[in-house]
Amino acid sequence: MKMVFSFLIPLSVAAIFGARLRAQPAVAAYKDPSLDIERRVKDLLERMTPQEKAAMLSGSGWMESQPNARLGIPAIKMADGPMGVRNWRGPSAVTNAASTAPVTATAFPAGIGMAASWDLELVASAARVIAQGVKALGRDMILGPTVNINRVPLWGRNFEGYGEDPYLAARMGVAYIKAVQNEGVIPSVKHFAANNEEYERHRIDEKIDERTLHEIYFPAFKAAVEEAGVWAVMSAYNKLNGEWCAEDPYLLTETLRKRWGFRGFVISDWGSTYSTEGTINAGMDLEMPGGEPMRIWAKKPETKRDGNGAGWLTADKVLAAVSAGRVTQEAVDEGVRRILRVMFTAGLFDHAHAGGGEVDTAEQRQVARTAANESIVLLKNAGVLPLRAESARKIAVIGPSAALARTGGGGSSLVRPKYAIAALAGILAAMKEAAGSGADVGYALGAAMEGEDAGKPPRELREEAVALARKSDVAVVVVGYSPKLEGEGFDRKSMDLPAGQDELIEAVAGANKNTIVVIAAGAPVTMTRWIAQVPAVVYAWYGGQEAGHAIGDVLFGAVNPSGKLPVTFPKALQDSPAYGHYPGENLHVEYAEGIYVGYRGFDKHDVEPLFPFGHGLSYTTFDYSQLKVSPGRIVAGKTVSVSVTVRNSGTRAGAEVVQLYLQPPPSRVDRPVKELKGFGRIMLQPGETRTVSFELDKAAMSFYDSAVHDWVAEPGRFTVLVGASSRDIRAKGGVELAR
Ligand code: BGC
Repeated sequence: MKMVFSFLIPLSVAAIFGARLRAQPAVAAYKDPSLDIERRVKDLLERMTPQEKAAMLSGSGWMESQPNARLGIPAIKMADGPMGVRNWRGPSAVTNAASTAPVTATAFPAGIGMAASWDLELVASAARVIAQGVKALGRDMILGPTVNINRVPLWGRNFEGYGEDPYLAARMGVAYIKAVQNEGVIPSVKHFAANNEEYERHRIDEKIDERTLHEIYFPAFKAAVEEAGVWAVMSAYNKLNGEWCAEDPYLLTETLRKRWGFRGFVISDWGSTYSTEGTINAGMDLEMPGGEPMRIWAKKPETKRDGNGAGWLTADKVLAAVSAGRVTQEAVDEGVRRILRVMFTAGLFDHAHAGGGEVDTAEQRQVARTAANESIVLLKNAGVLPLRAESARKIAVIGPSAALARTGGGGSSLVRPKYAIAALAGILAAMKEAAGSGADVGYALGAAMEGEDAGKPPRELREEAVALARKSDVAVVVVGYSPKLEGEGFDRKSMDLPAGQDELIEAVAGANKNTIVVIAAGAPVTMTRWIAQVPAVVYAWYGGQEAGHAIGDVLFGAVNPSGKLPVTFPKALQDSPAYGHYPGENLHVEYAEGIYVGYRGFDKHDVEPLFPFGHGLSYTTFDYSQLKVSPGRIVAGKTVSVSVTVRNSGTRAGAEVVQLYLQPPPSRVDRPVKELKGFGRIMLQPGETRTVSFELDKAAMSFYDSAVHDWVAEPGRFTVLVGASSRDIRAKGGVELAR
């Protein structure tokens, strides 16, 4: 019996062990796609050594995070954006070097042009195909969208963002982010926060009050987190109220994580860190760039001259900070956890983006063309547009941006497309379409863009243009800026057109009364010298690779323009609300205009802009009627519905962007005259009528109260203003916010 027992015991032990061995999963939990993401993250984190964890807090190269071969953690492979997939080979100097094989991809209009479309579906389509391009090129992450607000017309990067209004920027950013994440690609909403000037961008210290941050500079980031659940946020270069953005706990922990509930990771802007513990303890997770490329770059005199900071989160420095008790191991673990969480969410462990796919497909080109069409804003039209082939038999196309496609502004967002249609080519194509073989298009440079050699003196160039304009039925002068004059890393010197382009327009307008000015730039330019002398002005922004086709189609009416300004155009720089508080002194700038940025400032001080926020003409007309607000009283937790009927009362099909502004009742705090709270873009056939509806909630009526550090809504009667621009209100109503 005993023997049997003793025999039985080892048997049952073996059985238990056997069962345990069999229960051991074939693959580690973190490799199992069927498991919950938090479980996978936890499992992987437990397997990592302190050295391996520390290594993950900085990049391994210019555009890659740190991989781990032992555990099979892939690198996150990044590419710049947001207007397409930009080369990732290295800093601009390397990327743009003649010896570097260019990575070509579809170039979409710059963010400001996308914002001018006010078309969220379009933004989502562009973002979707950009993300598909990212994957086709074997990358995992796109460094965009840019949602910084246009505070001053001179900011070199105005073209990258979505304009001056926080609500519009938020809607655009959310549409972009959701579409990118839907493709399993990691976006990076940037630059958090208040990167609104390039002047001394690594050293400038901005003084911005709490209310202004929450009402103007934060909302697009807040919406990115709360509505789109964005996976990554890029911190900004500048200092904010005395702290570098990459080591500001108020920004990265209190606001982003505690207040808004951000669960992804924060990535530094390239070379924006200045300490180890300050950065980690503030909540910054991944320092870029890293590895050898970072070390080589950090040593360069220009890196030091510019004030870049780098190399603070290398594994040795992180480990030393932990040993010295300046950073806890938990803080390091938390950073790694956030990075891994996003990698699992994006599926990088389960299906790598191997690349090798097709880029710049026919579909992607079509989206780029639609985007260019919708981005164009017709600012002025005294009846000359659209051109008719019968009366515009001979066209003079003139200007430094006529034959050269200016697809984007300068810097990290500039995409190299496989082809790009310049205005001249687009006008020729559109004219051929309209007039057949009778198309007669002449070209003259007219003025050389600053930094571009024409081989002839300015006067001669201008005279050639004038002679051509004189013998033509119509003159189209295509002017603007170039990536060397408007781009990242520097601000524009002035709001005026550079390189004698004002004189060129005046001279051509003097020779031909049918002079149409087309502007390719990223921000407002001064037009007062010549605007009264020309019958039409078209704003084309930087329209990506299809810009020329869009310009031609708008001029000849194949496309009815529908873009609306996402930024106020002042008559002169001096009228801009931030004038006098830019670029600052001794590396300090005070945002003294507070919340009165853009149209909020023009309204408050009753300054007449050249063209107001939301302005844009069409070749048809729209009538607004029957504004309904229901119910007329709003209580907490409920919404009111606003509807308006819009009719195309002209003879052409066209799209209208219907805008809703709210005007608050008298308040205990100073509030803007009105603020954008809704918009809708509708396409209408001639004679067609449609109803556009909006939802308003209590949040739309709130302001940020610094006394309680929160949003507050005061009861009272708000005026609902619906119109075709911020200064073209067509219907009014009211809504009562209940106590
Ligand atoms: C820019 C970022 C960009 C990064 C990587 C920085 O200089 O500010 O927007 O994504 O470089 O190229």
